[in-house]
Amino acid sequence: MSESRLSRPEAGSAASHWDAVFTRTAPDEVSWFEADPSTSLERIDAAGITGDIAVDIGAGRSPLAALLLQRGWSQVIAVDISAAALQQLADQAGHPAGLTCVVSDVLAWAPERQVSLWHDRAVFHFLVDPGDQAAYAALAARTVEPGGIVIMATFAPDGPVQCSGLPTARHDADSISAVLGPAFALVDERRIEHRTPWGAIQPFTWATLRRLPIRA
Ligand SMILES: C[S@@+](CC[C@H](N)C(=O)[O-])C[C@H]1O[C@@H](n2cnc3c(N)ncnc32)[C@H](O)[C@@H]1O
Repeated sequence: MSESRLSRPEAGSAASHWDAVFTRTAPDEVSWFEADPSTSLERIDAAGITGDIAVDIGAGRSPLAALLLQRGWSQVIAVDISAAALQQLADQAGHPAGLTCVVSDVLAWAPERQVSLWHDRAVFHFLVDPGDQAAYAALAARTVEPGGIVIMATFAPDGPVQCSGLPTARHDADSISAVLGPAFALVDERRIEHRTPWGAIQPFTWATLRRLPIRA
């Protein structure tokens, strides 16, 4: 674990909440579990993005970061508010070279370099405050290099109203695009139904956006 930044007033309680979730559950005991992040990999392949640095926002204990390293990315940054989640992610991955774990509220993260790929599965929808959503968009615009790709997966408009006991903001691709603003162009959108380990269906919106070469 390389860094720790928790600066928002509520970040401490959120970190405790998520640490408890990851400490008390097995990977396949949470609704968002997937053994294989196949949709993420498909959307990354479809975007045709290659590069040096990728970030997985709210990575949890997903195997995606390790898989991206195996596919040739030189550095993958896993950002998560939960130290417990990132410890499990790193342990499961075998602490590969190129994996950087940053324990931070995403809105407090201060990246040192730009990235080619920003991936967020099931994290942005926990930002229910429009001010927090705007701060997220400004961070993404600063962090993703021109030509880079953002892949977002959020609960769809008919998706769950909460997850892990927390309220969610549901989105279609237009609302994701509207929040991210004119620095990003929507290049792909689709609805994909996630099946939880106990068989419930959760509709997700998947959106792929390209960072335009304009000032945010
Ligand atoms: C539903 S889980 C998804 C995990 C992972 N993306 C996946 O697909 O398996 C949400 C993740 O976001 C993290 N998280 C929630 N709020 C966050 C925030 N404000 N900043 C950073 N991470 C956050 C949680 O700790 C958790 O790992």
